[in-house]
Amino acid sequence: MADRDLGEQLVKYLTDVHSIEEQALTQMRRAPEIAGDPEIAEAFAQHLHETERQEQRVRGLLDSAGEKPSKVKDIAGRAGGMGMLLFAKFQPDTPGKLVAHAFSYEHMEVAAYELLRRVAERAGSTEGAALARDIGDEERRMAGRLESVFDRAVDASLRDVARDDLPEQTCKYLADAHAVEMQSIQMLERAPKITEPADLASLYEEHLEESRGHEKRIRGRLEAMGASTSLMKDAAMRLGALNWGALFQAQPDTAAKLAGFAYAFEHLEIGGYEQLKRVARRADDEKTIHVVDAILAEERTAADRIAARWDEALDASLAQVVEA
Ligand SMILES: [Fe+2]
Ligand SMILES: [Fe+2]
Ligand SMILES: [Fe+2]
Repeated sequence: MADRDLGEQLVKYLTDVHSIEEQALTQMRRAPEIAGDPEIAEAFAQHLHETERQEQRVRGLLDSAGEKPSKVKDIAGRAGGMGMLLFAKFQPDTPGKLVAHAFSYEHMEVAAYELLRRVAERAGSTEGAALARDIGDEERRMAGRLESVFDRAVDASLRDVARDDLPEQTCKYLADAHAVEMQSIQMLERAPKITEPADLASLYEEHLEESRGHEKRIRGRLEAMGASTSLMKDAAMRLGALNWGALFQAQPDTAAKLAGFAYAFEHLEIGGYEQLKRVARRADDEKTIHVVDAILAEERTAADRIAARWDEALDASLAQVVEA
């Protein structure tokens, strides 16, 4: 790819991360109010400061290249941030949903900065590469902090739930997990339509097969526990109201965006299953714990495999730009 084109791509990836930070700012400003737990609220408040500096740093780099953030992308980002907050706010387990979605969002940011770093390196921008490395590390640390409050998120979500109601709660979490698996299957079915390098394509195919297995196992648990089919339908509707495409700026249309999107989605699943496992533990539901442990291992492996392919995803996307 010509240097001039790489420079253009660098600006594009920078305006993308800028809108991602605008969305993060919307989330971080409001999240503490609905977190339902002081320690969780504190994690968000702390990351608000980091996010403010990240936004400034990205804007500064755009400035020095004589460019500006994209108004259109930034507006879409802020709207997506509000969508996520409203979604969490109206769930029965607001703290849990907030933390799971934020955990997923941090990984979307990690992916965006992994890609940005590579574009910057190819374009010979040491400043861009350093920015991407630093901010990416901060996003990873925030994701770690969120992971460490999963227990608290479940505590806060179940605060008003009586012990006798724990099996019913387990069913609700299972139904939510089922809805996420259904969306995951849809996304992975569409994945091959976006030009893919062979390794990524087979990775998505393999995980599609696994996800179909997850869907079956989760449905099996729900049936064994005598859950009504409307529980699954309600969960699908609630999740469907959250427009994941909007949350992640746009429908993923390139191999790089798809990889970032899929990576974030795996972490939405991981966040959900980690919480489901904790609810099942409280309900002494060994069978559900067993199923969830097996699924979690596959979700984590899928996420790691995507994370090992940023270079390929970027190569494919840059090749698409040249062809277009
Ligand atoms: Fe950020
Ligand atoms: Fe972040
Ligand atoms: Fe998955």
